[in-house]
Amino acid sequence: MNDRLTVEVHLGHDELAASLRADVRHGLGSRPYSLPPKWFYDAAGSELFDQITTLAEYYPTEAERAALTGCAAEVARTTGVGTVVELGSGSSDKTRVLLDAFDRAGQLRRYVPFDVSESALRAAGDGLLARYPDLRVHGLVGDFDRHLGRLPDDGNRLLAFLGGTIGNYPPVPRARLLGQMAAALRTGEWLLLGTDLVKDPIRLVAAYDDPGGVTAAFNLNVLRVVNRELGADFDVDSFRHVARWDAGSEWIEMRLRAERAMTVRVPAIGLEVPFAPGDEVLTEVSAKFRRDGITGELTDAGFEVVGWWTDPAGDFALSLSRRVA
Ligand code: AVJ
Repeated sequence: MNDRLTVEVHLGHDELAASLRADVRHGLGSRPYSLPPKWFYDAAGSELFDQITTLAEYYPTEAERAALTGCAAEVARTTGVGTVVELGSGSSDKTRVLLDAFDRAGQLRRYVPFDVSESALRAAGDGLLARYPDLRVHGLVGDFDRHLGRLPDDGNRLLAFLGGTIGNYPPVPRARLLGQMAAALRTGEWLLLGTDLVKDPIRLVAAYDDPGGVTAAFNLNVLRVVNRELGADFDVDSFRHVARWDAGSEWIEMRLRAERAMTVRVPAIGLEVPFAPGDEVLTEVSAKFRRDGITGELTDAGFEVVGWWTDPAGDFALSLSRRVA
């Protein structure tokens, strides 16, 4: 127990289970099949994702770290805020680069990690309390599609959404999420957004289809989650990982392709899902951005973009925006 750490749970186990059931009913109950990417991240999936971030092919993590290292002091100075809220904080690893800059500027008061995983949140919180002796951590366990209105409000906040996770949202849900972020902030508060950038499709596909098969294991893990949580009988070995670049939508798609005919049962929702060989489940889109495009989207949502930084190679961007009246 540490009195500098509080954790507020807005999403308990029952609610989480109900939302998985609804997503599976909706995603596998009709074609084209899909499953939302948020269900990748159980303990095993989070571990696999951490492994992905260390792969040579998966450039976004190090590229974003380089961009953050380059801009963190300026972000601290420009915003002048004392509260950093982070959506999808996970292990809060890269966040340290940001918090270090706020700490050096003498303005680090409070960190508000927001994640679906209470265990990840507590583990990350404990590490940060040890690193910053004056920091208070106020964790929120929730789903940022639904609970953004519950952020603690001191009128002095930077909302950070890093990693390129905004790319998991296709344009319409993305506009809704950016609008909810704007609505959750007061005029003059800040958003730091990480976006992966459009680049050579060969590099993009390699980043999502590594030769060692870590990304394949990460993708297939979602079937294990559905098996465990809903009693389904997916034969994981009968599916293959597919990653492709959709040039029209400018996103990477990850799919799971059935290699044989089968019927999968999902008892918790009384569902039977037929597969023919070659049938696919869409498990993730990961959109890649251009400066003009994301600037326009932020403007439409009610932000003014005031800063733009990339890593030296120009692979990944961080934008700083201010909520306008
Ligand atoms: C954590 C959503 C940013 O889209 O690149 C990594 C997840 N998927 N490899 C991404 C992911 C496949 C990642 N995000």
